[in-house]
Amino acid sequence: MTRILQLSDPHIVPDGQLAYGIVDTAEALATAIRTINRILPLIGPVDLAVVTGDLTDFGTPGEYARFKALMAALPIPYRVIPGNHDRREAMRAAFADEDWMPKSGPISWSINLADFSLIALDTLVEGHHHGILEGASLTMLRNELARRPGKPAIVAIHHPPFNTGIIPMDINNLHNGDELQAILDAHEGETRLVCGHVHRNVTRQFGTSIGMIAPGVSHAVTLDQRVDNPHTLSLEPGGFMLHEWRSGIVSHAVAAHVPPERYPFTGAF
Ligand SMILES: [Fe+2]
Ligand SMILES: [Fe+2]
Repeated sequence: MTRILQLSDPHIVPDGQLAYGIVDTAEALATAIRTINRILPLIGPVDLAVVTGDLTDFGTPGEYARFKALMAALPIPYRVIPGNHDRREAMRAAFADEDWMPKSGPISWSINLADFSLIALDTLVEGHHHGILEGASLTMLRNELARRPGKPAIVAIHHPPFNTGIIPMDINNLHNGDELQAILDAHEGETRLVCGHVHRNVTRQFGTSIGMIAPGVSHAVTLDQRVDNPHTLSLEPGGFMLHEWRSGIVSHAVAAHVPPERYPFTGAF
C-alpha cells in the first residue's frame, strides 16, 4: 500500500530564536517527528514524506541547515517544495546532493509510487507572498499526468487555489488556479490536491479533485474571518497529513503531538 506523509510550514528560524518572538518552531517540528516515529509501528511503512513549503521563515542557508538537522530524525526519505517564506536558490543549494532537486528553474519534481504518483510543484514568486504556477510547472504537470493515463495522482503545492475566508491569506493564495484546475480536470484518474500556507486543515471540492490544506506542524493562522481582521497566529496544536491508498486516496489529519499512552475501550455499550 502506498503511503506518504505531508508536513507543512515548519518555519524554522535561526538557532536560538523564536518565530515572531513567540513560537519555538524547531521544537514543534521535533515534536511532530517524535510522533511520526511513535506511530510508524502502528500504521506500517511510509514511502515518502513531502514538506509543502515554508520550511524556513527567511530562506537563509543557516535556517535550511537547521531544518535538515531536525529532519535527520525522520526515518523516512523526504523531499521539499518552496513556500513564500523560502528562497529558491538557498533551498536548491541546501538540497543540491539530492537527485530529485532540479539544477535550475522551478523546484518541481514527481515520483511514480505504486498506487499513485506524487507530483510536487513550485508556486513561489520571489519577493511576494502570493503564488503562481509558472508555465514550466504547468507543462510538467500536464506531461506527468499524460504519461500515466488513469493513474491516481496527488499534486502537492504550497499556495491553495481557493479561499478560506481568512482574507490576509486569501489575497495571497495561488493566483492561477484556473489553469491548474483545467489540467487536473482533464486527467482520467483520481486526483487530490494537497497544499499548505494557511496552517489549517481545510477541505473543498476543486473541479473534479478534492483540494486539501494541511495543518502547519507548528502554529496556526487564526481562524478570523472578519473584514479587516488583524493578521495573527495562534498557538493551536500543530499537525500533519497521512495520505494513503485504500481503493482511493484516504487523507488523515494527525496531531503533531500524540501522547504515547493507549487505553482499551472497556465497559458495556
Ligand atoms: Fe506558512
Ligand atoms: Fe506560506
